[in-house]
Amino acid sequence: MDNLKIKKISARPRSKISLLRGREILDSKGMPTVEVELETDFGKFLASVPSGVSTGKYEAVELRDEDGRGVKKVIENIEKIIAPSLKQEDLSDQKRVDEALIQLDGTKNKSRLGANAVLGVSIATARAGAKAKKFPLWKWISKIAGIKPALPRPCILLLEGGLHGKGKLSLQEIMVACKTKSFRESFDREKKVFSALGKILKKRYGQLGSKQGMEGAFIPPVKNAKEALSLAKEAIEKVGFLGKAEIIIDAAANSFFKKGKYHFDGSILNSKDLLSFYLEIFQQYPITAIEDPFAEEDVKGWKFLRSKVKNLKLKILVVGDDLTVTNPERIKFAHQRKICNALIIKPNQIGTISEAIAAAKLAKLYGWKIIVSHRSGETKDDFIADFAVGIGSNFIKAGAPTQKERMAKYNRLLAIEKELVDSLGK
Ligand code: PGA
Ligand code: ZN
Repeated sequence: MDNLKIKKISARPRSKISLLRGREILDSKGMPTVEVELETDFGKFLASVPSGVSTGKYEAVELRDEDGRGVKKVIENIEKIIAPSLKQEDLSDQKRVDEALIQLDGTKNKSRLGANAVLGVSIATARAGAKAKKFPLWKWISKIAGIKPALPRPCILLLEGGLHGKGKLSLQEIMVACKTKSFRESFDREKKVFSALGKILKKRYGQLGSKQGMEGAFIPPVKNAKEALSLAKEAIEKVGFLGKAEIIIDAAANSFFKKGKYHFDGSILNSKDLLSFYLEIFQQYPITAIEDPFAEEDVKGWKFLRSKVKNLKLKILVVGDDLTVTNPERIKFAHQRKICNALIIKPNQIGTISEAIAAAKLAKLYGWKIIVSHRSGETKDDFIADFAVGIGSNFIKAGAPTQKERMAKYNRLLAIEKELVDSLGK
């Protein structure tokens, strides 16, 4: 008995950091990014941070060295500033750790420490907290968030354009989303569409048809959006899913908005022209959601679209990404102006898990749909899979089923689904 007592007293407090360090790894684009290693006396936890190229003005700052690439400064911030300050924090108190990170940074946009320093630590903390509490990560996140967990629907990326494709196509992403009773079945169907598209493209464009963009989807030499959308529709039809599969678009309009005009597929359009174009494609293709249809500054454009969608009773989700940047202030801004009814949640747009959860909860309060998303520069970290389940996200987009960085997320979701099914069967 005495022995036991002594052991208890002399044991280190369980959920504290014994070592926190960062190291440079390369993301899917070959760009340096940071991997955080958090050591405790009950295990070692890793986390790495993604990076985007089509960004919103209000995103939290991704810190880089003077050469615009390196992350030495980020690593220094983790090891010299964050590590000593978090030493006494309880890792199973995610909110407190995140609050400490926010205060330590002290800026509105994480520009002092870098959102890439802060997020790595926040994710590693969530992993440690889950382990300390003996929960799978998705369940731990749902507990922190106070949200009922749910599996999202996958949105596999078919075609890439804009900044991701570097061809003529202005739309950044054309995705497919199937709705079935399980994640696995929806994913399998979407993969079938992806493979069918691959065959169609090879036949039509030869070798050029199999080239891949940043997120592993196809970048065929199409002239415009309609040609690309027709290819997606043809692939859906080929595998017999017309009427069962939806097309989701990310226009990422910030990237083709210059001096008040949209430079779209070789034409120069104003907001109303672009709106007419959208209404036309909504008629011709099974599109059910459009992300960033207008630039973040063009609130008028967004308003036109939302009111048209309402008046015409179209079943279209108008999704904010660069507009809302996972930031409660920006989400309120969009809500007050009634310009979207769905949003993208990307933890690295805001910097901490607690803030990303707050953004998701606000969106839910407004009755918006949620799409958790990866970034174009990804790592094999599969955190967003657990996160999407934990916050009961409606969808997840993690690119094409080709690159290992994208498959890590889909595979994790397949595993979580199995875990859930097995636990129900017990
Ligand atoms: P990004 O693009 O990761 O390159 O910023 C993704 C998106 O716009 O959804
Ligand atoms: Zn986007």
